[in-house]
Amino acid sequence: MARILVGVSGGIAAYKALELVRLATKAGHAVRVVQTPTAQRFVGAASFAALTGAPVLTSEFERDPSRGAFPDQAPPDHEPASHLELVRNADAYLVAPAGANTLAKLAHGLADNLLTSAALAARCPLLVAPAMNDAMWEHPATQANLALLRERGVSVVEPGTGALATKGEWGPGRLAEPPELLAAVEAALAPEAAAGGPWDGLSVLVTAGGTREPIDAVRYVGNRSSGRMGFALAAEAAALGAGVTVVAANVALDRHPGVRYVEVQTAAELQAACAASFGDCDVLLMAAAVADFRPEQAAAEKLKKAGREVLELRLEATPDVLAGLAAARRPGQVLIGFAAETGAATAVAYGRDKLERKGLDAVVVNDVGQPGIGFDAADNQVTIVTAGGEQAVPRADKAAIARAVLRVADDLLGATAAPARRLGG
Ligand code: CTP
Repeated sequence: MARILVGVSGGIAAYKALELVRLATKAGHAVRVVQTPTAQRFVGAASFAALTGAPVLTSEFERDPSRGAFPDQAPPDHEPASHLELVRNADAYLVAPAGANTLAKLAHGLADNLLTSAALAARCPLLVAPAMNDAMWEHPATQANLALLRERGVSVVEPGTGALATKGEWGPGRLAEPPELLAAVEAALAPEAAAGGPWDGLSVLVTAGGTREPIDAVRYVGNRSSGRMGFALAAEAAALGAGVTVVAANVALDRHPGVRYVEVQTAAELQAACAASFGDCDVLLMAAAVADFRPEQAAAEKLKKAGREVLELRLEATPDVLAGLAAARRPGQVLIGFAAETGAATAVAYGRDKLERKGLDAVVVNDVGQPGIGFDAADNQVTIVTAGGEQAVPRADKAAIARAVLRVADDLLGATAAPARRLGG
């Protein structure tokens, strides 16, 4: 049971906050709600008050009959300032939906209503669940504001892609579903996260997904990587207490609230994003399928087929991102590459060759020629190749494979100059 403060900002998705509050109270949490004045144009305070059994506030100047107490608490004998008392009592503060304007205010420390003042005063975990039109979501200002918030340790519950509020519109920006919002809050409150896991203090950089190299304005050279393996590695590393950054190349999967994401499309963008985070990382897990070749020139317009019997594409080699990072590694870092091969007989030998050629500590080899494993599949079956030998990991879901990879990373960390943090078992 926890005390959850829910901040509802203006937007059609505010109706989903009602369901979130219902689920949270049903799960035994004590919930208080603050709304922005605009939010009340979408959903009335009476509904939230009925669901939480507590008053709903919109302004710092409004008297709180509960004096900042949550439904499970006795009100104090004085009248504290609501924006301070509510967050002092809360175990977590979730702003859902967080519209573009509210996100901008939170990113820049503005405190012009109860929701934003409370956020500025919050020492408990702060989560934001953005919801807006896709054009607003994709605007560089919104993305920069989100990056600022993430840098400051705010958890972002990523919006989904789907039908948006305006009739007929579709795209990214849809508020995460209420069960996902509650799960994000509960994850932020998880005692193991608070207590710190065996990888507490370690920094892990994961690449995931597959790069897309533009041919013209609408077409690209890509691959079938879904990002599942990389995202599973990130989730498991976060569960161990590590600070995790994922460089995600075109991944259409739900984001983990405790993980920082950098979104990229091309090999060049992935290289730049990795370069920015590599220096600080202790473990690099290079699960992304990075294009080895890209069109020499991408046409700015859409190429027309009229008058063409054949279209020739000239491809040039991309830089080997992993080999480049390995060349710049500092002592104590553990670098693990991934090799998707076709042909069980040669896969491990190719993996060992990559280990040596790229200067890595381990290579996770999988035979993507086999049905049901590897690319865009829930399961995988791998062989982890290290200087000391090979470990076959039988077919399992990607979370189990990720745990096996992290155990090897942990052994390798123990063998380096870095302080040994053993997982045990
Ligand atoms: N990789 C990389 N940059 C590239 C290509 C690959 O960083 N341009 C990384 C991948 O993320 C992976 C590892 O290198 O962790 C092995 O990728 P793979 O494509 O199998 O290796 P290559 O050396 O390109 O070998 P191949 O001839 O099999 O394509």
